[in-house]
Amino acid sequence: MSARPASLLVIFGATGDLAQRMLLPSLYGLFRDELLPKSFRILGTARSELDDAQFRAAVEDTLRKRVPGEDRDDASITRFLGALHYQNAALDDATAAQTLTARIAALRDGDVLFHLSTAPRFYAPICELLGAAGLAGAGTRVMLEKPIGHDLASALAINDGVTRVFDESQVFRVDHYLGKEGVQNLLALRFGNALFEPLWNARHIEQVQITVAETIGVEGRGDYYDHSGASRDMLQNHLLQLLCLAAMEPPAHFDPSAVRNEKLKVLRSLRPIVGGDVVTHSVAGQYTAGAVDGVAVPGYRDELGRDSGTETYIALRAHVDNWRWSGVPFYLRTGKRMPRRCTEIYLQFRAVPHSIFAGTGAHTDPNALVITLQPEERIELSLMHKTPGLDRSGLKLSRVTLDLDVHDAFLHSRRRLAYERLYLDAIEGNGTLFVRRDETEAAWQWIDGILDGWRTQGVVPKSYPAGTWGPSNSVALTERHGHSWRE
Ligand code: BG6
Repeated sequence: MSARPASLLVIFGATGDLAQRMLLPSLYGLFRDELLPKSFRILGTARSELDDAQFRAAVEDTLRKRVPGEDRDDASITRFLGALHYQNAALDDATAAQTLTARIAALRDGDVLFHLSTAPRFYAPICELLGAAGLAGAGTRVMLEKPIGHDLASALAINDGVTRVFDESQVFRVDHYLGKEGVQNLLALRFGNALFEPLWNARHIEQVQITVAETIGVEGRGDYYDHSGASRDMLQNHLLQLLCLAAMEPPAHFDPSAVRNEKLKVLRSLRPIVGGDVVTHSVAGQYTAGAVDGVAVPGYRDELGRDSGTETYIALRAHVDNWRWSGVPFYLRTGKRMPRRCTEIYLQFRAVPHSIFAGTGAHTDPNALVITLQPEERIELSLMHKTPGLDRSGLKLSRVTLDLDVHDAFLHSRRRLAYERLYLDAIEGNGTLFVRRDETEAAWQWIDGILDGWRTQGVVPKSYPAGTWGPSNSVALTERHGHSWRE
């Protein structure tokens, strides 16, 4: 693949929600800071019949709404809009498709990056169209949004369709969590410090918890969400990527093959949760009406406007069956309408092997490391400390926390949107923070096992009131094994 940066980006689905919320604001951020290649152009395409001027007006509106005042200025907005173009195209209309490819060819003056942000069923047909128009050879690459299918079979079909046209090295599958600073910092923390790695294994770690809790509901995306549920929408991708980064072996280099090879090994070491195991190792939930942050919110079915058996919460007790993690439970959970927004990785270390304080009545808690990725990045290490005093009635110990507020530590660094990083990497052809085909497929295979188990065992989501930490049986998932969720 050419190492030249792409000078043209074509966004399929340019009028969609993701483009408005994330993609265009991120591109504007890069443009404003002059991080995009010189004479970079963006061509948006979708079904809506707009001309360049109408598209630019709509994007201007979006930027004024979405980009905070201190991060935008009129002059750079005007220049950014000047780099935007639009071509409407209904992809099932051969003439429209031809007009689109002709427009791409006319705008192209170097490498091209295609970003497919449409329903995934269009990915293979779009790639075919591009291939037939001679737009898939050297100097082209394609970014694909999640979800790549809804199970292994559909993921295989999409990946086959895409890679019939583009070589795997030209394909950049997005998991926007990998573009987040906090997620990348997990690698920095693990592999940039000698301190943690000797302890990062079954000998010293008792349990790991990975939580991605959201306070939002389905926010008008009910039609999509109801076919996905938490398992496909969050677990198959974001949670499993976090698990990979937390559990993988040190890669030899920070490069696309080395990092993705190690992540793949983790996915392939996940113990299948199939058949009757789903009853003891998984919990599905669906929120009912409740209150989040003191505000009353409707239940999932009311939001959706119909009955549904889709899970808005999933919790698992997973195992990575390899030498490093033998016997260590990885508790994973994600849900909508939880009490607070929080993405964190919690590692509880084993208790001291022998307490010299046993006779004094002093109690020792196990050490714990909490890596919070959202809403603020924070790293907390809990330690036992002597409670100050003369100890006339016996020595006392208290738990104290070394607490690093990453925001304060890097007060003057601008926080970037995940897509800013991902776009720059894809424009430059660096796939380290993108998901390789085999990773996606291994993740689907594991998820399919759980969903099949739910079907055969008749598992249906248990309800939980919005604003709580999931259904009551999620407590038993950990407590049965002497652990508790961190809340
Ligand atoms: C998306 C899911 O991939 O991630 C959404 O489709 C979810 O349902 C979102 O809300 C969460 O992303 P973030 O960046 O807000 O944690």
